[in-house]
Amino acid sequence: MVEGKKPASLLSPLIISSLLAVLLPRCAALNPRMLFLVKPDPIVLQDHRGALLTGNLTVNLLFYGRFSAAQRAAVADFVRSLSASPGTPRPGHGAEPPSVASWWRTTALYRGGGARPRLGRQVLDERMSLGRGPLSPGDVAALAGGAGHHRGAVTAVLTAPDVLVAPFCVSRCGAHGQGRAGAHGRARYAYLWVGNPARQCPGQCAWPFHQPVHGPRTPALVPPSGDVGVDGMVISLAALLAGTVTNPYGDGYYQGDAGAGLEAATACAGIFGSGAYPGYPGKLLTDPATGASYNAVGLGGRKYLLPALWDPTTSQCKTLV
Ligand SMILES: *[C@@H]1O[C@H](CO)[C@@H](O)[C@H](O)[C@H]1NC(C)=O
Repeated sequence: MVEGKKPASLLSPLIISSLLAVLLPRCAALNPRMLFLVKPDPIVLQDHRGALLTGNLTVNLLFYGRFSAAQRAAVADFVRSLSASPGTPRPGHGAEPPSVASWWRTTALYRGGGARPRLGRQVLDERMSLGRGPLSPGDVAALAGGAGHHRGAVTAVLTAPDVLVAPFCVSRCGAHGQGRAGAHGRARYAYLWVGNPARQCPGQCAWPFHQPVHGPRTPALVPPSGDVGVDGMVISLAALLAGTVTNPYGDGYYQGDAGAGLEAATACAGIFGSGAYPGYPGKLLTDPATGASYNAVGLGGRKYLLPALWDPTTSQCKTLV
């Protein structure tokens, strides 16, 4: 049997963590100001001492269903930006906005020193080889496995707005997990899935670029790429990549139940900038030309909004601005 062509039934996917749709405010019924009266418990992600992903990491992108070239470029450039070297500071231009790479560097504070991602293959499955869904977690693992996995790689399966992935919307905007491949299923690989939330639960998975389902009807923010679905996907992809490298096989850093625990980004859900509280993403930067909200700049000056990450050295959610 050709490696990588195993039927889905031989893969043993285990969704170890889903990106819960907790980006929506959890205490939205409360007056937000009341929350300042309560000092929240510090979040502590426990290190369960299992393998993390470290060193060079290839990130493959599998676009399942229709994505425009502009949509694919926004996602691919985000991945390329993760380990881009910082540009030379330009004297006299004031403070440079934080870079995507500086956001990613928080993951290097975890045990093992972090992973250096680079963009790998981009695979297009426009004709949707497994149909429009609903795709099961096993289907997603099979797609990821078929897109070419090997040691030191993660495949991100990105599904178009009209593709159903169970149980998208019900409880999650994306998930990461592990599959097994190779002779006797000895090689394990990490993969993740993110759905385009343009039409499916944008209030949960594209907030703050879409009004939340619950809570104060604050105006939606302008997305930096101009595409609510894609900028929502980048938030989820960023969160899941951070969760994947710091808890790839379910025995790394998390708090709570294995399989449903809080991870590097989900521990900080809903926080994008300093001063965030449920329903308010925090202080962000604004693009004067478009009015878009962002907090990080990547290659080619592309702007992104990235979630806060839990910092193991301070046990705080670290924001960029
Ligand atoms: C990681 O990638 C860099 C180039 O990006 C290369 O110089 C280095 O040898 C690689 N390290 C390993 C351990 O493969």
